[in-house]
Parts: sequence; C-alpha cells; structure tokens
Amino acid sequence: MPMPALEELERLCQQCRRCSLYKNRKNLVFGSGNKDAVLMFIGEGPGKDEDERGLPFVGRSGRLLDKILEAVEIKREDVYIANIVKCRPPGNRNPKEEEKEACIPFLRKQVALIRPRILVCLGSVAAQAIIDKNYRITVDHGKWVERKGFFLTATYHPSALLRVPARKKEAWEEFKNIKKKLEEISQAN
Ligand code: URA
Repeated sequence: MPMPALEELERLCQQCRRCSLYKNRKNLVFGSGNKDAVLMFIGEGPGKDEDERGLPFVGRSGRLLDKILEAVEIKREDVYIANIVKCRPPGNRNPKEEEKEACIPFLRKQVALIRPRILVCLGSVAAQAIIDKNYRITVDHGKWVERKGFFLTATYHPSALLRVPARKKEAWEEFKNIKKKLEEISQAN
C-alpha cells in the first residue's frame, strides 16, 4: 500500500473491517495531537469515554496522564497519542491477539508518517506489541531501548497507577526521564 497522508490513513481506518471491534464502537479513536511530534504515547485501546468522544485518553486515566504531563512540563498539544487498537473492546476487555494484529498496521503507518523519535508505551499491552512480546511491565518499565532510530520505553498505564497509587513514584521518575530524553533530542537538532 503506498503511504497515505495521516488524514487519508484515518479515512481508511474508519472503513476498516479487519476485525469485529468496529461493530460495537460509537467512534473510531484514531489518535490525536501534533502531527510533527517528537514524542508519541501509545496506549492499549479506547475506553468508554474515548469511544464516546472519538479521542484517546480523555477519561479518568487521560486526566491522570494530563496531570503527569503538566507536572513534567510536557504540553499535551506537542505530543501525539494513539492506541494499539482503535475501536473500543467491549466492556474494556484487553484486545485479542487477532484484533491487535489487524489494527497494528495502522499504528505503524501513523508512526511512519509522524516520525517521532521517542515512543512511550503506556502499559503492558502496548509494550508487548511494540517493544517485546515477552515484556513484563512490572520488571522492565522505565528501561530504554534504541531501535531503528527510535528511543523506546514503557511505563505503567495510567489506569494501573489509579489502581495501585504506590506505583506513581516510579512513574513520576520515568516521566522525568522522558522529558530529559526529549530535551536531549531537541538540543541535538
Ligand atoms: N486507555 C487506553 O489505553 N487508551 C485510551 O485511549 C484510553 C484509556
């Protein structure tokens, strides 16, 4: 498939019937943010609020993400946010293998078009799909790998931080490191 522009890719994604998740969705949640972002966050899939609004991370976990970004002085409008699957899995279950496989080509094309330098996976579903299929978020979170010109890392999903607030301290350090990496890259350019 030749490389479509981001808007064209979204249009193709709207029409996607590669898995059955489209049947129950209210809205596609393609992704949002700066199309020239250096930093891109990747979540798991839309929840109820995201499905209703067609935007990623606008519910409870999105509000926590906003707070963390604000604390480390990263503007949400400067970053791009997308998910592994772009239609809400019913009842917020984890996306199934075939759903992730069906959807991930869209994410790969998004990344190819936006060309961020830093990819941050939020939670294990994204980390296992992007960094390593055996990624263990409780063990590996915060580590950095460099691959094909991208700096990759993963941190706890904000919903995990809401469930286990004791993890916030580590996540906070990781977001500070993300900010540092962003500054290093900006200074080098
Ligand atoms: N959780 C996710 O993984 N993605 C969203 O967009 C919202 C909640």
